[in-house]
Amino acid sequence: MSAPLAILVVGFGLIGREHLARIRAHPGARAAGVVDPDPAARAAAEATGFPVFADLDGALARTRPDAAIVATPTPRHVEPAVRLLEAGVPVLVEKPLSADVAGARTLVAAVRRSGVPVLVGHHRRHQPFVQAARRLVREEGALGRVLLAEALFWVRKPDGYYAPDWRRRPGAGPVLTNLSHDLDLLRHLVGEIEEVRAATANLARGFEVEDTAAVLLHFEGGALGTVSASDAVPAPWSWELASGENPVYPKTDAACYRIGGTEGALELPPLRLWRHAGDGWTTPIAALHHHAPLTDALARQLDHFLAVARGEAEPLVPVHDGARTVAVLEAVLRAAGTGSPQTPPDVGA
Ligand SMILES: NC(=O)c1ccc[n+]([C@@H]2O[C@H](COP(=O)([O-])OP(=O)(O)OC[C@H]3O[C@@H](n4cnc5c(N)ncnc54)[C@H](O)[C@@H]3O)[C@@H](O)[C@H]2O)c1
Repeated sequence: MSAPLAILVVGFGLIGREHLARIRAHPGARAAGVVDPDPAARAAAEATGFPVFADLDGALARTRPDAAIVATPTPRHVEPAVRLLEAGVPVLVEKPLSADVAGARTLVAAVRRSGVPVLVGHHRRHQPFVQAARRLVREEGALGRVLLAEALFWVRKPDGYYAPDWRRRPGAGPVLTNLSHDLDLLRHLVGEIEEVRAATANLARGFEVEDTAAVLLHFEGGALGTVSASDAVPAPWSWELASGENPVYPKTDAACYRIGGTEGALELPPLRLWRHAGDGWTTPIAALHHHAPLTDALARQLDHFLAVARGEAEPLVPVHDGARTVAVLEAVLRAAGTGSPQTPPDVGA
């Protein structure tokens, strides 16, 4: 077996700590160190016993990471990721790839120039039941022609979640932070998004950034979709609560996605395919349950990232794919800001 790869964790906040825990648990990985400019985050990192640095240049001068994970606030993904790529270090960049399309294009160009891979941290795509859903919809045609899709992200985040200043400002908010997951999965499961209409509001929290959003989607090929999000509504309909993929959230088993076609309708995370026994709504309808294991998707993502860093696999979510999700997110925010339909901008990939 080859030597464990040394992984540098850049940003030691909520998700950076989750990544470090999985690096420590993986026999094929070891922590090269942690980078964070915040003294409190560094103090927490020092308790782990790994080398801790206040900036990336200091870390690159003193360690030789085989790969790195960028888990900084969304508006601060691009600079460290480009620096790492220029140093020849493969990078897992947390989702969304960047806060805007300009940043996404910079990263697409940096990957092309350096020839060093980026894996975008859309970890849900590593879940076996997501892969099973994609096979059903995109390969087996189990729904017939897809006509309609719906995703809900309705949660009540605790007020303490908003202690870090960046989470209250543009560059965060449920569109970029949470719908980045859901819009990415709808692209993955249904197809590319050609046009969006949207409205946002901040009635509950009153931050500069939205707390609530409603989005209308037009997919390539003509299917329509709706997505709604709020981080101020206590409810069971979110991937976090419905999937049970992270034990910190109570599991509800309530579906938060529905995809419908001419032959049937699929709901997930509990993967249920609904079909009538005969021709239409007066005949019995039943759900076929597809069982796919629920896994620690962040651990599976790390496993895959190690293979990417060793040159043994192509990224499951490459930089241009993450960039297209950023283009959809930017279109949503522009549509909400202007009140007019928007086409996701070209990302140069
Ligand atoms: N995959 C997921 O499910 C998931 C979950 C949570 C967050 N995220 C994403 O991860 C990113 C971080 O979110 P978070 O909630 O962990 O944020 P956070 O505020 O908890 O942590 C970010 C950390 O980065 C540090 N930081 C800031 N600038 C830095 C720099 N230049 N170099 C190194 N460190 C720097 C901050 O001091 C902080 O400790 C966001 O893009 C978010 O969307 C993904």
